Amino acid sequence: MYDFRIEAVDKAELYRQLADAADALTAGEPDAIANMANVAALVWEALPDLNWSGFYRNIGGELVLGPFQGRPACIRIPFGKGVCGAAAASLEPQCVADVFAFPGHIACDVASRSELVVPIVRDGALVGVLDLDSPSPGRFDEADMAGCVELVQRLGGRFGGVA
Ligand code: SME
Repeated sequence: MYDFRIEAVDKAELYRQLADAADALTAGEPDAIANMANVAALVWEALPDLNWSGFYRNIGGELVLGPFQGRPACIRIPFGKGVCGAAAASLEPQCVADVFAFPGHIACDVASRSELVVPIVRDGALVGVLDLDSPSPGRFDEADMAGCVELVQRLGGRFGGVA
C-alpha cells in the first residue's frame, strides 16, 4: 500500500513533498505508462481543486491521451491546437487563467475554467505533456507552474522516450 502524507502550508513545500513522493513512487520502475498512471493519481490526490490530472503522450507527432484521473477526455490533439497543443508546439509551459479566453481551447469537460500544461522534454524532444485542469478560474499561478516544471524535470526520464 502506498500512503503518502502530503500536507503543506505553502505551495513550495507542497510541491517539494509531491515531487519527493512521486520520485519514491516511480523509482526503479522502467514502465512509462505505469509511472504516468501513478503520478496522475498522486497529483490528483495531492493538489486541491482539480477536475482533471493526467498525461498526453507524443506519438508520431500527435498528442495521444495517456494515464489520467478525471472525466473521459479527447483522445488525440494535434500540436498547436488547444492548450496542450500549444505546450507541445512551443515546448513551453502554458498557464491559462481563463480557458474560454484561450484561442482554440479544447473543452474536454465543460466544467474546466483554468488549465496548466507542462511539456515533458527529453534530449530536446517532446515526450508528452502533464495537463492539470481546474473548475476554478485562475486556479494556477507561478508557484504551481514552477512546482510542476520541477516535478516533470525530476521525473522526466521515467516517462519514457519519444514514440
Ligand atoms: N483542454 C485541453 C484538452 C485536454 S483536456 O483538458 C483533458 C486543451 O485545450 O488542450
